[in-house]
Amino acid sequence: MEILDLRHFSAADLRPLLEEEIATWARLLAWDYAGAAEMILRYMDAKILPGYAAIERGSVFGYSFFVYEQSKGVIGDLFVHDGGRSLNRREVEERLLTHVIETLQQSPGIHRIEAQLLAHDAGEVARPFLEQGFSRHPRVFMNYEMARHPQTAPPLAPEFEIRPWSEEQYQAAAALITNAYRGHVDSEINDQYRTLSGSLRFLNNIVRFPGCGTFDAHGSFVVFQRRTRTLIGLILCSQVRPDVGHITQVCILPEYRSAGLGVALLAATTRSLRERRFGAISLTVTQANDRAIALYERIGFDSVRIFDAFVWEG
Ligand SMILES: CC(C)(COP(=O)(O)OP(=O)(O)OC[C@H]1O[C@@H](n2cnc3c(N)ncnc32)[C@H](O)[C@@H]1OP(=O)(O)O)[C@@H](O)C(=O)NCCC(=O)NCCS
Repeated sequence: MEILDLRHFSAADLRPLLEEEIATWARLLAWDYAGAAEMILRYMDAKILPGYAAIERGSVFGYSFFVYEQSKGVIGDLFVHDGGRSLNRREVEERLLTHVIETLQQSPGIHRIEAQLLAHDAGEVARPFLEQGFSRHPRVFMNYEMARHPQTAPPLAPEFEIRPWSEEQYQAAAALITNAYRGHVDSEINDQYRTLSGSLRFLNNIVRFPGCGTFDAHGSFVVFQRRTRTLIGLILCSQVRPDVGHITQVCILPEYRSAGLGVALLAATTRSLRERRFGAISLTVTQANDRAIALYERIGFDSVRIFDAFVWEG
C-alpha cells in the first residue's frame, strides 16, 4: 500500500470509492452525499484538491482531502474502502490522516486545523489527532422522525415575530451568530463564529455552497423583536436528501434565551418541512452543549451517533 498525492489521480480513479462513500452516508446518516461527491470529482479533475490517496495494485481504495481557508486548514473528508484487503482499514485511515495532519502543520501560514468526521464513530480515528496535540470535542448527530411526533404550535409572546429567512438578513444574521456564540464551545470548534467576517463566510458556505446539503430557504426562519425591529434569533435548514432536512444553525441572542424562541423556531422549521412531506430532520450538536441537547430531546430528537470534532492551534 502506498500513500500518494491525491492530485496524481483523476475523477475516474476516485469515482468507485465515492460511490461506496455515498452508500455509507445514506446508511449511517440518511444523507445523500452525491452532491458533495460531484464537487469533489470536479476538483479532482481540475487537479486542485489537496490530499492523499491510499493505493493498492494501482487503484485508489482510500482518500482524505483538506482545504485551506486563509490561515486555517479544514480536513474535508476521510474514507477508506471496507473490503477484505490485507491491510486493516483503521491503519490506512490513520496513515492518511497522519499525512494530512503533517502536511497542514508544515504548511507556511497555517496556524489552525479543524476536522469533523461525521461518518466515523467518536474515538475511532482519534489517535493521529491526539498524538499531534489536537483537542477533541465529541458531537452528537440527532434525528427527528416527523411521523412519530405531532406538530405543536407553542404560543409566541406578542413582542416577537417569526419571519421567513430572506437574503436581506445576511449582515444582521452574521452579527447575530457572532454574538450568540461568544464564549461558546462551538466557537472553539469552528473559529468562523468568533468574528463578523468569519460568520459571513459560514453563512456563505451554508446558503450558497452544497457542502452541507442544499440550503432550504422555505424551512429557514428569523425572529425579530417587534419594538426595536432587531434580529434576535434564527434557524437555518438544508436539504440533505429529498425527504430529509438538516438544521445547520439555530441560535438566539443570550439576553432573549429561555423565553421559548428556540422551541418556536424549531416548530416553524418542522411545520414547513411537514407541509412539504419531508420524513425527518437531522442536526449535529456538541455533547458539552447539554442545554441544547436537552431542548432537542424534549422536542423529540433522538441521538443517532456520536462523532468527533478535532482542533489544533499552532
Ligand atoms: C439552544 C438555543 C437556540 C435555545 O434557544 P432558547 O430560545 O433559549 O430555547 P427555549 O427558550 O425555546 O427553550 C429553552 C428553555 O426555555 C424554556 N421555555 C420554553 N418555552 C418557554 C416559555 N414560553 N417561557 C419560558 N420558558 C420557556 C424551556 O423549558 C427551556 O428550559 P431550560 O432553560 O431548562 O433549557 C439557545 O440557547 C442558543 O442560542 N444557544 C447558543 C447557540 C447554540 O448552542 N445553538 C445550538 C447549536 S446546535
